[in-house]
Amino acid sequence: MIVLGIDTSCDDTSVAVLEDRKILSNVVSSQIKFHSKYGGIVPEIASRKHIEWIWDVTEKAINEANLTMKDIELIAVCHGPGLIGSLLVGLCFAKALSYASRKSLIGVNHLEGHIQAIFLEKLYPDFPFLTLIVSGGHTSLYRVDDFGKYKELGRTRDDAAGEAYDKVAKMLGVGYPGGPVIDSMANEGNPEKFNLPRPYLHGSLDFSFSGLKTAVKLLLKNLGYEEGKVPDDVKKDISAAFQCCVIDVLIEKIKWAASMEKLKRVVITGGVAANSELRKRAKMIEGLEIYLPSKSLCTDNAAMIAVAGYHRFLRGEKSDLYLNARAYLPL
Ligand code: KG4
Ligand code: ZN
Repeated sequence: MIVLGIDTSCDDTSVAVLEDRKILSNVVSSQIKFHSKYGGIVPEIASRKHIEWIWDVTEKAINEANLTMKDIELIAVCHGPGLIGSLLVGLCFAKALSYASRKSLIGVNHLEGHIQAIFLEKLYPDFPFLTLIVSGGHTSLYRVDDFGKYKELGRTRDDAAGEAYDKVAKMLGVGYPGGPVIDSMANEGNPEKFNLPRPYLHGSLDFSFSGLKTAVKLLLKNLGYEEGKVPDDVKKDISAAFQCCVIDVLIEKIKWAASMEKLKRVVITGGVAANSELRKRAKMIEGLEIYLPSKSLCTDNAAMIAVAGYHRFLRGEKSDLYLNARAYLPL
């Protein structure tokens, strides 16, 4: 089955074409240069860029797959959670395309897309497994018993891990998005130079990263640096200390959740799962089989939406033109 996937949930305009689970194309058009000077995503700019780009990105994805619109059998579109204006662009486009070309439409939850990114890889786990989704908008643990069977075990009570990366990067003055920059600066820093808190929330599988973010803010103040004006060596040491705290907490919670749920297989996914240190340390956890989508499938992309839509369609599900976008959409 040839599936067209569309994701416009945040700041990337992405369209992919799959043949069953095989990726024929996965185009991700990044808007970062339009948002970076604001230190975060400006929702109004994001929606406008999606409108400008969605048709070209779709044509590019279909061309790269060496197909035409006639070959597409199913249109899978992300309808939440995300920025409502951005989601509406992809959703309205998908509905119009489905109506005009008489192709089936299926709505996909963005988080289900992140979880199912692993099924685009050659190596994927059998059910049941544990998933940690760690992205700019979410830090959540799920027990996954089958396609479509997800049980939330824990979630962040405040900032998502990726959001904390982005905010700390802003304080250090290293631009947006912060994750990849902190990732590489941390490699050159000393994680023990500064002592930052590790928010374990003992006894709970929830997360909380806003205190850690505030601790970085206070540290900069105590060291006498203005936000955004920090010397390079201090930036590297703070990045290393901050990253070490985040990863310690993520790894610890994976271990707790896996032992509580008696699960041996773990999928780590979402933008922060592209982090080199997290990937390295996760693979070293003893007694657990760790599955990581390749880095480009961890960050937002439409192939993950297409594969999740494909599995829903195989289960006999379909959406109609009443499908709506939702900023908040639990799995
Ligand atoms: O999954 P994603 O592309 O979008 C959301 O659904 O949120 O995740 C984006 C987040 C951003 O906060 C970005 O800073 C973070 O993922 N990120 C990283 C890395 N690459 C992206 N965080 C840490 N290390 C990275 N290498
Ligand atoms: Zn995402």
